[in-house]
Formats: sequence, structure tokens, C-alpha cells
Amino acid sequence: MYRNHNCGELRMANLGETVTLAGWVQRIRKMGGMTFVDLRDRYGLTQLVFNQETDAALCEAANHLGREYVLQVTGVVTERSAKNPKMPTGEIEITVKTVKEMNILNESATPPFTIEDETDGGDDLRMQYRYLDLRRNCVRANLELRHKMAFEVRRYLDSKGFLEVETPVLIKSTPEGARDFVVPSRMNPGQFYALPQSPQTFKQLLMVSGFDRYFQIVKCFRDEDLRADRQPEFTQIDCEMSFVEQEDILELFEGMTRHLFKTIKGIEIPALPRMTWHDAMKYYGSDKPDTRFDMRFVELMDIMKGHGFPVFDSAAYIGGICAKGAASYTRKQLDALTEFVKRPQIGAKGKVYARVEADGNVKSSVDKFYPQEVLQQLKAAMNAEAGDLILMLSGDNADKTRKQLCELRLEMGAQLGLRDKNKYSCLWVIDFPLFEWSEEDGRFYAMHHPFTSPKPEDIPLLDTDPGAVRANAYDMVINGVEVGGGSIRIHDSKLQHKMFELLGFTPERAEEQFGFLMNAFKFGAPPHGGLAYGLDRFVSLFAGLDSIRDCIAFPKNNAGRDVMIDAPAALEDAQLKELSLKVENK
Ligand code: AMO
Repeated sequence: MYRNHNCGELRMANLGETVTLAGWVQRIRKMGGMTFVDLRDRYGLTQLVFNQETDAALCEAANHLGREYVLQVTGVVTERSAKNPKMPTGEIEITVKTVKEMNILNESATPPFTIEDETDGGDDLRMQYRYLDLRRNCVRANLELRHKMAFEVRRYLDSKGFLEVETPVLIKSTPEGARDFVVPSRMNPGQFYALPQSPQTFKQLLMVSGFDRYFQIVKCFRDEDLRADRQPEFTQIDCEMSFVEQEDILELFEGMTRHLFKTIKGIEIPALPRMTWHDAMKYYGSDKPDTRFDMRFVELMDIMKGHGFPVFDSAAYIGGICAKGAASYTRKQLDALTEFVKRPQIGAKGKVYARVEADGNVKSSVDKFYPQEVLQQLKAAMNAEAGDLILMLSGDNADKTRKQLCELRLEMGAQLGLRDKNKYSCLWVIDFPLFEWSEEDGRFYAMHHPFTSPKPEDIPLLDTDPGAVRANAYDMVINGVEVGGGSIRIHDSKLQHKMFELLGFTPERAEEQFGFLMNAFKFGAPPHGGLAYGLDRFVSLFAGLDSIRDCIAFPKNNAGRDVMIDAPAALEDAQLKELSLKVENK
């Protein structure tokens, strides 16, 4: 037997017991004739004490130990003279008396960085040696959380009658808006599989098959530009249900979210508010508003236009936010905010501010254009009080300006400490537009995907004003992160054909890409709908992480590379030839 206890479980109640532990050497400290070793395993750390005076061979062996050696020891649980209240095992230590009680199971090369919570390893180094990084408590804890969340998802969905069904990974491309990763087929020269961006069409086919309630915790692949909340391969909690309306889905998955908050975080969340996409854009400039704090946009065209300030007078949109208590911002801080909105990623030309002073008077950066009386109207419209700071942006394109104001709002929220990672604010964003117009391509794209159904009352608009059609689509947003999204699907092949037509598919292309689905719909497709959560995002939120990378065991870096296994990589000529990717005599 290698061990009869783990390194995280011994306490004062175990005093006097002889125990055997196995683990990795985290730290060695020599003090006089004593050597102290912190032994680590997945469960924690336990201090070992080697009293070298009792056994010369033990002294020799202890001196030979290095960091990350794999050690098995037998010793007696004793009370520490210097207790460490920060460690769960901090009241005890294991006294090892003879060399026979210590067994080096394996040596270790010196690790390239310290394997402790505070490490000296930079990102690249840690990713290259990810298997060592994963030995660190804080990283391992994220994977433990991930396991628990996936487990509770399965428990909840199973209790609601969902079946987990696996769908294929080598498929034909599904149009979710990103590029596909493709895999050449050796047996079908010149042809390629695509890796699924999601199991969307398969789960709909499962509904045609009568599975009624499906889910899958599943890898999805998207070849898109990477960000902190995006990986090329990520995991969805993918779900679909038959004979449901939007309301049924929102209710069931609000229940799942509540279950996760309760079982994992011990938090009872209130009923999820619902916000239309239109309001989200109008008041927050984003379809995923961070509602941990208020600071809603107020439109100021009526008040601020027409007073001779050229920037506002020529604007198509003027919007403001009120930062509570921020009137004390210094010139330097205000200038930094101007620099912030002028960064190319945001692209505003500048910002205008107004402070509400202690006596209620308003002082603005454009005072010369605005009499106090107008500034008082501004104060009233913004619901501002003494000590508040009003920040305003304007522009010739309302949507663009709102996006810029959204960035400013988030920045102010962060600066004022309003985006606390331990506070959660969840909501549904509903009534998304069905289509999104692309100026660049001069055509409509599906905002969610082409299988999303329009709201029945908006169907007549498909012929007259497609841009105004609302979809039966919804996203769940937590703390400004889109954790999940879905829709009620079209189950009528005629409507689906029309949708393809509006999206610019020729009947031939629609047939070629989706003939299988259209055909299936001819055999009694039930009304159905569903959604998918991003598991990585959900876990990151619960763990308070800045990037989803930290809750993925072996993630890719920002260039889409796995630096540990050095992928992607070139193939041998012979392999390329076999896959018909290389012309014979080239
Ligand atoms: P959607 O494309 O909105 O919907 O994806 C669902 C959820 O998956 C997560 N997600 C990602 N997470 C990490 N990295 C990525 N690159 C990434 N892309 C998406 C997000 C998102 O909310 N088939 C539909 C769902 C449906 O209609 O049922 C779909 O895939 O959290």
C-alpha cells in the first residue's frame, strides 16, 4: 500500500497515529538538526519533520531530497510547536524517525518555476510545462470546480428527464458564423470533414427522432480570433427540447442556473430579469450588459444639442452616464479617461464631462457653451446629485457611439469597484433581431443561426422589412458575459426554405448544405427549441477568472497554439500525399 492517508486530511484528532503518506516535495527547510519538508498531493500539504540526530542515514537521505521528488513516508502524527493557522493541516506534522520510513519513489529534475500559488513562472513557461502548472493548488482548484459544475449539470438535467447523447465530431460544416476547422479524408481524396462549431443540426435531428429532451457536454471547434473568453476548442452544455415554447426553456434553464449557484456557490439567486435586446443596446450599448451596477445611458440630444457646441450640434447621438461620487476625479484622471476612449479599439474622438459640485452647481468641460440652467436640466435628466460625475460621448452613428459609451461605462464600473467578482447579476436578454445586416457584404446574416424561428407576429415582416423581424432567441448573461444562448427553431420546412432564401442561399446550395435537415423535417418534426451554455465561461465566472484558459486543463495560447505539444505542426510529405494534399511530383 503506497499510503493510508492523503496530504490534506490529518488533524489534531489523529495525534499519535502512525500514518503513511505519498506525494511531491514542495519545500525543504533545514533548521539545525531538523529538516522540514512540505509534502503535497491533490488534497493538500502536510509538514514532515526529519529529526536527523536519531538516524545518520536519515540525515543523509533528507539532505538528498530535492523539490518535486516523489516521496513515500511513514511517521507519527505529532503536534506542531509553531502552528500555521493558514493551513488546514497546520496544527500537526508527521515525525519521521528512521531512514526505513522514507522511500524516494522517484527523483525530479529541478522544475522550471516554483510550484506554489505564487509562482515565478510567466505565462509561456507555465503553458509549456502545463502538467507542472496543474500541480499548483490554485490551478487544480479550477479543474475541480469544473468537474463539480459538469457533475451538477448532469444531475439536474438527468432529474428533468434529459438524455445525454453523443453526436459525431467528423461532420460537414454547420453555419454558426465562425470558420470551420477541417480534416482531410484519406479515403475520399480531395474531400474534407469539418469539426462541429456546435452539434446544432444533430440535436434538431434527435428531436425529429423523438428523443424529446437531449443534452451533451461537448467539445465545439471554431476557427475565430481568440480573446480572453474564446478558445478554438471549447465546451458547451448543449441542450434541446421538443414541444416547448420559449417560456418553457427559460424556466427550465433558469432552474439549472439556480441549481448551480446553490449547490456550488451556496448562493440563492433572485428570479432572472428579462431585458429586450433593444433595451440592452439602448441603455447599455451591449447585448450582454454587466448589470452588477446601474450607470444606464441617458440620451441627451434634446438637452445638449443646439447650444453652439459644434461637436454636439453635429452629432446624431449624444449619450451620458452618471458616475456616482466621482466628481472628485482629478484633471489627470479625467485626461486618462479621454485617452481611454480615444484608443483605436474604442475610437471615440473625445469625451465631455460635467461635475456636480457640493452646492449643486454643475461645472462642465464645455461651460462656455452651456448656461447653468441647461446644465441643471442635464443634472436632472441624469439623476445626478452633488458629488457625481457625468460623462458624455457623441457621434454621427448612434450604434457606434453606444458601443464606445459601453466601454467607458465598463471602465468606470471597474475604476469605482463596482465589478466585484464575488457579486453576481444574471439576466435573460430576449427578442434578438432575426437578421443582422452586413454593410461590407451588402446582405443579411442570421444573428443567431439560420434555424432560429422568427416571432410569429413578425413573420409578415419577412417580406417587407426583414431587418425589423424579431427572433424567438435568448441569451443568458451573467456579469456582462454571454454564458449561454439559444432559440426556438423553425420546424416547418417551408419557413426554413424562406429563411435560407433571405440569407442568400440558392435552392441548390441550401439543398447541398442542409438537404438532410430539410428532408428530415418532412417526416414529422416536432416544435422544438434549445440552447447551449459555454461551460468554460460558466466555470470562469464561478472561479472569478479573467480568462477561460485557466479553467481548461490544456488550453491554446492567443495564437491558437498548444506550446506544450507544439501544435499545430507541419506534416511529413508522405502523410500529405496520402491525404491527397500534395501533388505527386511537387
Ligand atoms: P452560440 O454560438 O451562442 O450558440 O454558443 C453557445 C455558447 O457557447 C459559448 N461559446 C464559446 N466559449 C468559448 N470559446 C468560444 N470560442 C465560444 N463560442 C461560443 C458561449 C455561447 O453563449 N448552437 C447554438 C446554441 C443553440 O442555439 O442551441 C450555439 O452554438 O458561452
